[in-house]
Amino acid sequence: TVVRLADYQPPPFLVESIDLEIDLHETETKVRSRLCVRPNPTYATEPCSTLELDVGATVRLVPDSLLLNGKRLDAERGAYHMHAGKLVIRQLPSGNDGFTLESCVLLNPSENTALEGLYLSKGTFCTQCEAEGFRRIVPFIDRPDVLARYRTKIIADASKYPVLLSNGNLVEHGPCPRDPQRHYAIYEDPWPKPCYLFALVAGDLARVSDEFVRASNRPVSLHIYVRHGDEARTAHAMESLKKAMLWDEKTYGRVYDLDVFNIVAVDDFNMGAMENKSLNIFNSKYILASPQTATDSDYNAIEAVVGHEYFHNWSGNRVTCRDWFQLSLKEGFTVFREQEFSADMRGNRAVKRIADVARLRSTQFPQDAGPTAHPVRPDTYETINNFYSVTIYEKGAEVIRMMKTLLGEQGFRRGTDLYFARHDGEAVTCDDFVAAMADASPSVLSAADWEQFKLWYAQAGTPQVWISDSAYDAQRRELTIVARQRVPPTPGQPVKKPHVIPIATGVLDASGKEVVPTTILCLKEAEQSFTLQNVPPGHVVSYLRHFSAPIKLTRESWADQEREERELAFLMAHDTDDFQRWDAAQQLLLNAAHRRDGSLTPVAITSFQRAFDALIDDPLILSQVLAPLSESYVMDEQPTLPVDPELVHKACLSIKRQLAEALRSRLEHVLDTAEQYEAGRSGFSLDSIEQGRRALEAVAFSLLVTLPNPEPYLERALVRMRNAATMTTMLATLQTLVHADAASKEHREQALSVFYDRWQGDYLLMDKWLRIQATAPRSDALMVVQSLLHHPAYNAGNPNNIYSVLGGFALANPYGLHGGSNASSAYRFLADQILEIDGRNPQVAARLANAFTKWRRFSEDRQSAMRIEMERMLESPKLSTDVGEVIFKCLEMA
Ligand code: ARG
Ligand code: ZN
Repeated sequence: TVVRLADYQPPPFLVESIDLEIDLHETETKVRSRLCVRPNPTYATEPCSTLELDVGATVRLVPDSLLLNGKRLDAERGAYHMHAGKLVIRQLPSGNDGFTLESCVLLNPSENTALEGLYLSKGTFCTQCEAEGFRRIVPFIDRPDVLARYRTKIIADASKYPVLLSNGNLVEHGPCPRDPQRHYAIYEDPWPKPCYLFALVAGDLARVSDEFVRASNRPVSLHIYVRHGDEARTAHAMESLKKAMLWDEKTYGRVYDLDVFNIVAVDDFNMGAMENKSLNIFNSKYILASPQTATDSDYNAIEAVVGHEYFHNWSGNRVTCRDWFQLSLKEGFTVFREQEFSADMRGNRAVKRIADVARLRSTQFPQDAGPTAHPVRPDTYETINNFYSVTIYEKGAEVIRMMKTLLGEQGFRRGTDLYFARHDGEAVTCDDFVAAMADASPSVLSAADWEQFKLWYAQAGTPQVWISDSAYDAQRRELTIVARQRVPPTPGQPVKKPHVIPIATGVLDASGKEVVPTTILCLKEAEQSFTLQNVPPGHVVSYLRHFSAPIKLTRESWADQEREERELAFLMAHDTDDFQRWDAAQQLLLNAAHRRDGSLTPVAITSFQRAFDALIDDPLILSQVLAPLSESYVMDEQPTLPVDPELVHKACLSIKRQLAEALRSRLEHVLDTAEQYEAGRSGFSLDSIEQGRRALEAVAFSLLVTLPNPEPYLERALVRMRNAATMTTMLATLQTLVHADAASKEHREQALSVFYDRWQGDYLLMDKWLRIQATAPRSDALMVVQSLLHHPAYNAGNPNNIYSVLGGFALANPYGLHGGSNASSAYRFLADQILEIDGRNPQVAARLANAFTKWRRFSEDRQSAMRIEMERMLESPKLSTDVGEVIFKCLEMA
């Protein structure tokens, strides 16, 4: 069944408060609930005569347990019935009176392999309720616009589950009077919340505590709960949390609103983490880190995710979503907040922006160009879990960023202040957010402009912009720029209107000096011209600085390749915006990749050499400039079809080799100094110069091993892998050895076993070890992946392991998946795995099914082989709607 935004109705009933008693048991947990319900005055004049509660399929209602105002409801007499996942209650008290409804249900957490609702992760009870998991615990009005106060009593075996946690404040705890083996705890959350923010944890966990003193001078107790033995690995998460709290006070004026903030890390988690009120639950990979076991990217990701979930306390919890179509209201905004937090912490904004844009282009652009394209605010969905997407999250963040670009720093802050003040405690829509922005800066954009701006929420597809700027008047020093835009058709949206597109533009003179500082050209029409003054002859224009809009930009005046390469090289050398320097380099690489033989022009080669020398003191940016293009990005951007994975693989290899040849002595110098530097220092630092050195060394290895005589570099990588002081370098060299075309079987196996022998006891590192193998671009990748599934390090029920091995193969290894001599067996294998996982965890299976969304880009024979597998999946009688929705869309049957 399809849910439609247009069908939204306010809830007929509200729940004022809920009292829970959850008696935990591995196979039979008993949940009693008491809801205080009242008719919603804004629903209709006549109160509704039936109450519908959502009930998950695995929830068993205890017979005769339903009490209305304390009186037993009799199913026999038609007081209630179950229908299509709803518990329908009739015979409600008449009029507008509130009433209480009590129920008792039984659950089996040990059989909950979907990891939604209440489940067990390595012996710890935990919950995941967003989006619709609460109904798998309690019969409830499971929608985000029903906000209730919670009181939660947890009862559990005292020795197995000494730690009992829920949202809000602990108000009482102790042994159970009638059963001293068991104990209980009662929590009260003073803040009304939607049920998707409910959480519960029970386990034998270690606790690490700290404190944060708020702007109000009141302290908050901070606790991170992990498995015993992992305490020392929480330090970075704790520091990140304190930084996030301070940053949100300074940047948005948002102060934390309870005296306690808890984080729990679990190994089995479908997504990254969850912002449950005062009880965030995390995938352990976004909490645990130590200098020996975590890479720089792990550290950065922990800081970002801890920040993200914390920021949700305001953007999501205090102000929440009216319905799930508004998901980007909280996710887009919170991703934006997280990106800016990370940029501030990093001390180098361009580095963060480069990483974010690379991610947007390589994951969101293809989604927007394929069968699962959807607007930032979708119109319909079948399974909301499929919409926790890069479009809702990352493109949604770009939409917020554009508002900030248009309004300026202060205007944006006035807007968020108004938004939080106006809607605190409410469940609202993306329109409400935009209205607050508009009202706080009434003179910046007209009402009509804002209406047009909101098309970013309604229209899917990456806008294309063509710019032509050859009309230059040397006498008046005036440059006329003509911009045209078009939003491509997407499923269900054949015709589009023009967007409001802020194009941050600057001009450099022939010597590379900036003569027109960054100006926003605000494109609104399908075609529009702009004039820039004081533009000298010999100028070069820089468009879309810091990627001011999520679009694809083509410069028509660059119709000839010679001029294009010359100006790209110029921007790479001189632009005042480091983001643009990287972007020019990307374009040079992409142009080469699409030349099929992968040949870099002499101009391009020279500019990489110059960039190397110019950026050597900023190794993080340099490493991003030199980082090899991903093969899937090259395929996604390829202008002509079909894509030939083999050819792309060869072109990418050739580009690396040309760069390695042109930069050989420089790259060798990088290796030498990296080793010397590491030997000469003690301790571990995350500052950007140190991270940059490590990143640059990794790039140097990955380029040098593509040279015609790679032996010495491969040997050196192996030695480095054994001796490196950081996990960053260890994993980077391992990946180089496993991914290099030139590495022999011995190299590979030796590297893998050295790493395995040392780290086999560490689940998070084994997960990375698995992923490196599954993503190796090899023609026998299928065999590699098949055997990994039988490796003791692989746990078929663990989402991280599935994403690493099957996700790595299906979504991050296009040459491995499509490039082998027998791609059809790879597709069959993948479909079999999706079906099998679907039986246990549909949400994870649906993520893997996304591998098929690009099927139309490949050759006829590959397409028909993929079609056969998709049709076979659809015939499977037990297929989930999660996977079904993705596959139907691929086959254009939706
Ligand atoms: N709200 C969480 C976050 O982005 C993600 C939860 C996703 N859960 C899900 N079942 N789709 O911070
Ligand atoms: Zn989020």
